[in-house]
Amino acid sequence: MKFHLEASFRLSADADKAEAAISDFFKSAGPILQKGAPLGQGAKIVAWKLAGSKIDLVIDSDRFVRAHDALLRLRRPLSELLGKEFRIGVRGMDISKFEIAVESERAINHKIPYVREIKFEDGWLLLSLDVGPEGTLGQSEMENRIPDRIISLLEDKLQSGYGGKTEHWELLWESSARPPKFTSDPTEEMQKAGWIKHGSSRGQWIYGPQATHVFRTFEKIVLEEIIQPLGYREMIFPKLDTWDVWKKSGHAQGVYPEIYFVCPPKTRDPAFWEEVMDYYKITHEVPLELVKEKIDLPIGGMCYAQCPTFWGFLQGMTLPRDELPITVFDRSGTSHRYESGGIHGIERVDEFHRIEIVWLGSKEQVLEEAEKLKACYKHIFEDILELHWRTAWVTPWFMAQEGKTGLAEMSGAGTVDYEAVLPYNGNWIEFQNLSVNGEKYPKGFTVKSQSGEALWSGCSGVGLERWASAFLSQKGLDPANWPVEFQKRIGEMPKGIRFL
Ligand code: SER
Ligand code: ZN
Repeated sequence: MKFHLEASFRLSADADKAEAAISDFFKSAGPILQKGAPLGQGAKIVAWKLAGSKIDLVIDSDRFVRAHDALLRLRRPLSELLGKEFRIGVRGMDISKFEIAVESERAINHKIPYVREIKFEDGWLLLSLDVGPEGTLGQSEMENRIPDRIISLLEDKLQSGYGGKTEHWELLWESSARPPKFTSDPTEEMQKAGWIKHGSSRGQWIYGPQATHVFRTFEKIVLEEIIQPLGYREMIFPKLDTWDVWKKSGHAQGVYPEIYFVCPPKTRDPAFWEEVMDYYKITHEVPLELVKEKIDLPIGGMCYAQCPTFWGFLQGMTLPRDELPITVFDRSGTSHRYESGGIHGIERVDEFHRIEIVWLGSKEQVLEEAEKLKACYKHIFEDILELHWRTAWVTPWFMAQEGKTGLAEMSGAGTVDYEAVLPYNGNWIEFQNLSVNGEKYPKGFTVKSQSGEALWSGCSGVGLERWASAFLSQKGLDPANWPVEFQKRIGEMPKGIRFL
């Protein structure tokens, strides 16, 4: 990585009388420009010139002390020198040229903020930043580390390549290979049996009484085996996530391709909408282009990860020590993801139902709570549902949803995926997860503990469609084949709706 920066310090007065002192200052600026860098590396002033009340500088550097850092490092000692001896102030900095070269195997063709041009030549990406009198990158953007963010962005992109992202996956545990009672696709069988029908939206199902009863039995198991014994309190989390929530949760970094966006009307004045209504009444078609003109920009999207909106309840608050750990859950509504196209059945849906379990406290409390939950889940999947299942240590969900790969940096933080085999196609599906999210959420939403100790949190999503896929694909739809403990809990199956 190479940096080339041309900038000037704006002074409060003509500094001719200080020229010799300035010259000495730049001659001996080496330690400032190389501090923290390996020997012989860092930034260098390749030229400077005093022109009345400004000092023009050219700085070249490597990655160890980036040129813009070098410039920022010089400002204070220069101000001190000029202020003390010559009563001249450093008013500000102007950037006239800023070029960054990054080694790369490929070009980047889309627009990046504050970058005027990106060229790809001989294994280098050459960036010209948008500086100068008309430019968008000036002193305050330098101080706010915009160039560093541009570089991190490029590094992320170049590391991950084109869609070649591989998420972390590491087997933790696998149950015994319980022989399946069923080898068909449960979605097809449920449709044939009249348990479910396609909804009118993509990846959406209408669950009839029998399928709903299965879902409610799963919920009952979670309530009886986890929520009640571990003392979780029910809450209702909002199901429309605003940008503000997703900025704090990190989703704003990468969730766009999967969001169902929510746009409010530009106004609720019926007169504004009259043309749309009339058009529909005459043609029986909704005039979508006209609707598009009359709706506002999206305010966010429909619930995606379920726990982010909970944090608004704690935002900016300090929690008393004896309130911790806080353990809550939500099952008040659907989550929505714009999934990849094709036919997937209920194992991959755009609209799904999930119980979201959230806990927070000290690191120790959060890790301990995670172990308690894992023990409850194991009991459910082994003794009640009798699944062939396994767990894997994977890229944390909060990173995956930001478009990242790898593992969390905080030790102890991360996601365990629960997977079950689908006998009809041999694939394993993730049917729920359990995560220790480290300090991410308390930090993102500025929640503190009275003790001053770091707050951690965890969450676990129990996907009812996924539980149904796992369970029904291994056990089938005939209650006679269901494990005894499940039969006990489900009781009588309701009658379905008959058609002529
Ligand atoms: N919030 C977590 C997720 O979206 C658990 O449901 O994966
Ligand atoms: Zn969550």
